[in-house]
Amino acid sequence: MQQKCKKVYITTPIYYVNDVPHIGHAYTTIIADTIARYSRLIGHQTLFLTGTDEHGQKIEEAAKKRNKNPKEYADEISSKFKSLWDDFEISYDKFIRTTDENHIKGVQKAFEVMMSNGDIYKDQYEGHYCVSCETFFTQTQLFDDECCPDCGKQTNLVKEESYFFKLSKYEDKLLKWYQDKDNCILPKAKKNEVINFVKQGLHDLSITRTSFDWGVKLPKDLNEPKHVIYVWLDALMNYITALGYGDNEKEMDFWPATVHLVGKDILRFHAIYWPAFLMSLNLELPKHIAAHGWWTRNGEKMSKSKGNVVNPKEIADAYGLENFRYFLLREVPFGQDGDFSQKALIDRVNSDLGNDLGNLLNRIIGMSGKYFDFKIDSSYVEKFHKNELESADKIIDSLQEYIFDMQLNRYLEQMWKILTIANQAIATHEPWVKMKEQKIDEAMALVALVANLLAKVTIVLSPVMPKTCEKISNSLGFKISHDNYRYFIENKKLLETFRIKKTPPLFPKIEEELIKTATPTVKQEQESIITIDKFFETKIKIGTIIEAEEVKKSDRLLKLQVDLGEENPRQIIAGIKEFYTPQELINTQVCVVANLKPAKIMGLLSQGMLLGAKDKQSFCLIRPESHKKSGTPIG
Ligand code: MSP
Repeated sequence: MQQKCKKVYITTPIYYVNDVPHIGHAYTTIIADTIARYSRLIGHQTLFLTGTDEHGQKIEEAAKKRNKNPKEYADEISSKFKSLWDDFEISYDKFIRTTDENHIKGVQKAFEVMMSNGDIYKDQYEGHYCVSCETFFTQTQLFDDECCPDCGKQTNLVKEESYFFKLSKYEDKLLKWYQDKDNCILPKAKKNEVINFVKQGLHDLSITRTSFDWGVKLPKDLNEPKHVIYVWLDALMNYITALGYGDNEKEMDFWPATVHLVGKDILRFHAIYWPAFLMSLNLELPKHIAAHGWWTRNGEKMSKSKGNVVNPKEIADAYGLENFRYFLLREVPFGQDGDFSQKALIDRVNSDLGNDLGNLLNRIIGMSGKYFDFKIDSSYVEKFHKNELESADKIIDSLQEYIFDMQLNRYLEQMWKILTIANQAIATHEPWVKMKEQKIDEAMALVALVANLLAKVTIVLSPVMPKTCEKISNSLGFKISHDNYRYFIENKKLLETFRIKKTPPLFPKIEEELIKTATPTVKQEQESIITIDKFFETKIKIGTIIEAEEVKKSDRLLKLQVDLGEENPRQIIAGIKEFYTPQELINTQVCVVANLKPAKIMGLLSQGMLLGAKDKQSFCLIRPESHKKSGTPIG
């Protein structure tokens, strides 16, 4: 990534206001915050943008469900995002809302420009729409004939008059951009996915809707009161309207964006639609679009209905905000999915932060106090420890590359090697032996070496853990600032003679999981309560398996013929091959959801679902305690 740019513009996605913030939102925002802090530290003029995405059918429906008008509802949730980022001391410079007047103006302006450039035309749209993803799909893209291929939810058939954007026109130009700009999409594996998608051919994009009205209206001159602008066109424009596009243009000199941080699920919108819109507007394309992976919990996707959503505030309150930040950035390579567990977080805090970082400071305080009345003097460091200093500086020189390539886990991993050099130097040179042998200069050189290595780490770690690093730097007698970045990191200078200040342990050992209640909150329970009538809508019956065989080319599936007391047995495709052989299933009884809509799984018809129970270790089918006639209802 380009390193010496003067103006750096970093963005997060703008978050939908249909739901309160969760760990996924916190993750993107914390990555962006870290890059922004780093960029400021090294002296770039930095603009960091975040905000909320407030229009569209999804928000309109969410508001309706709560008997609120959409704006009132958006105000409420948007302020929750803002106050969480304020609590988390996120260093955003701007918080944009798509209901802001100047944003709306900018979107309308963009629509006009795209239209005058011949990229918008009016036609009839017919296709499927997933409200949850706010995405259009063709019939062939659907999963199971009618479900969204991304989130699995039921799509709606939409048939309406619409304005279209000529996306197909930009296919070749997009492919050329991906080819010419090596790092335009990070990580590289994700870039290949985008290229393959575009190569399959792009359809023109429907960019207005008429079946609801919670959105930006079309420019007045068009006299189309029924149309509102498609929420993704509206939302993507935030990256330029925040700079004043279509209004005062005040900060357009921050354009093009240095990096748009996004989750992998919304990469397509950012890597295909957004550059095509920008080309149509004759604006430069962003330098980088970086897509991170998803956080799961115990291997499962998080969702409100499962009650397994990780609340970032709860974690930060229990374990410390900066420990949480460190964990999120260190635990998972950028671009890959990660599984959240308290245990993994505790291990990182106790081991990386407590043992490697915190103990090092304690040892420096201890040694300098015992031998030198807390004085640290770097005069002899170069004489006795040139090698260690050089190794550390080499590592530091490589760090910038990692951070601007979004490899934050490598950034931290490399930095930790400096702590290892410091801890090993103490073990190898044993200052207490040097003191016994009256080699005072050598002992001082060692203590000062270690203090200097810690000082360097503290500066480069500060974008990840600002407050913690401030405490360490206070103890080591310097301030974290751009000037000190230049002094210690660029110019490789050493600490001047000073007296170290004692500080309480920074990372007290965590002995057990601090959040005990894994049970759903009362609110979640209420949300998932159903009436008895609702329950009886599901018909569950006893079935007898009369035939079973493996599905070819599948590691998971078995094809079963199950007698439910009907004229013909039902064919059921079940993902239980890991746990049962076909032979052991024949003539056994199972519980079958009998009124499930038939589905095709690997091209095979499945006419029901078996009930089973799965924990971390294993899976078992739910069976009647004694033999029952096939087709006996359960309930
Ligand atoms: N409003 C759109 C973005 C428009 S940007 C012009 C949107 N909003 S969102 O609130 O649904 O999602 C915002 C971000 O959260 C996305 O980048 C998404 O990938 C991320 N995450 C949502 N759940 C996540 C996890 N479980 N883990 C990590 N990130 C996840 O999409």
